[in-house]
Amino acid sequence: MSTNAVLIPGDGIGPEITAATLRVLEAAGAEINWIERLAGVAAMDAGDDVLPQSTLDAITKHGVALKGPCTTPVGKGFRSVNVQLRKAFDLYAAVRPVRNLPGITTRFQDVDIVVIRENTEGLYSGVENEITPGVVTSMKVATEKGCTRVARWAFDYARKRGRKTVTVFHKANIMKLTDGMLLRCAEDVHDQDFSDVGYDTAIIDAACMRLVQDPSQFDVLLLENLYGDVVSDLCAGLVGGLGVVPGANFGDERAIFEAVHGSAPDIAGQNLANPLALLMSAVMMLNYLADTRGDEPSRLSAQRIKAAYDAALTDGKKTRDLGGELGTSEFADAVIERL
Ligand code: NAI
Repeated sequence: MSTNAVLIPGDGIGPEITAATLRVLEAAGAEINWIERLAGVAAMDAGDDVLPQSTLDAITKHGVALKGPCTTPVGKGFRSVNVQLRKAFDLYAAVRPVRNLPGITTRFQDVDIVVIRENTEGLYSGVENEITPGVVTSMKVATEKGCTRVARWAFDYARKRGRKTVTVFHKANIMKLTDGMLLRCAEDVHDQDFSDVGYDTAIIDAACMRLVQDPSQFDVLLLENLYGDVVSDLCAGLVGGLGVVPGANFGDERAIFEAVHGSAPDIAGQNLANPLALLMSAVMMLNYLADTRGDEPSRLSAQRIKAAYDAALTDGKKTRDLGGELGTSEFADAVIERL
């Protein structure tokens, strides 16, 4: 029996990497009934709102979505669709596993970090004001509720996955109230309910230096919204770049799976993009369906896909961002051949 899931192809490279991902899923026997909806520039081009009500309704109904990247104008124009979606469904925990993959040589071969980013507060609240011409402000919001629930999510994740330590990156020496709130809440959650999981803290600037010197010293990272956004990309750079890091946005009832990268307008429409990050996000989605809905066939498909892309990479089948020569669809073919 197939499972319903919403599909948002997105903008820029989104449609290409989505098409490649769907081909692999289908070949792996994943029985997903896709409900396709638009968001972002694609929705506007179709004469609809940037985040159409029909898209929101579909996610409300089906509870799970696979989403390609959506373009956001810089310094002007509409508010990020990605931020709007996370807010609309209260998807407060963004999870981005960052690991070395076979066949991709980087400076480090022992990276196994999970970045957990608070996804609904911080400077992404979008509360910006012009006080007077030449003076603008942006409000950083931290609530006890928001900090506590994401900290609980992070420790719970660490425990379930057998991870050793959750480290909070912060700048509470300067932002004593906001970053201080996350630190205090994380410590309380740890002491009350998760003393079996390690807990550590690190000031973010020095922590970034330590990350690029020796990432193997970190396990699960917990960060407020903006730090999580920046550090996710930094971590992607440790294992081969934005083309190989998947992501998921979790709330208590719904989840949207999407790659860490954006719509990459510089390479869009040229069959150059690496579809792997979105494919890996789809694998996370299949495992989520297995975990939350007892959909065990999805777990089997996920295992087959992971084994196949590992094998393709091991055989040197790579897109250009990884030093290979394959296009988007040729990489998908290479994965399908190894299923
Ligand atoms: P980007 O992630 O789209 O691109 C940064 C660089 O990485 C570019 O050189 C691009 O070609 C490369 N790259 C990204 N994904 C790749 C892939 N799969 N394969 C090969 N190369 C890849 O970030 P940028 O340029 O800052 O943002 C472009 C647009 O994407 C903006 O409108 C931004 O707001 C949006 N964005 C959307 C996100 C989302 O939908 N979740 C996340 C990040 C950015």
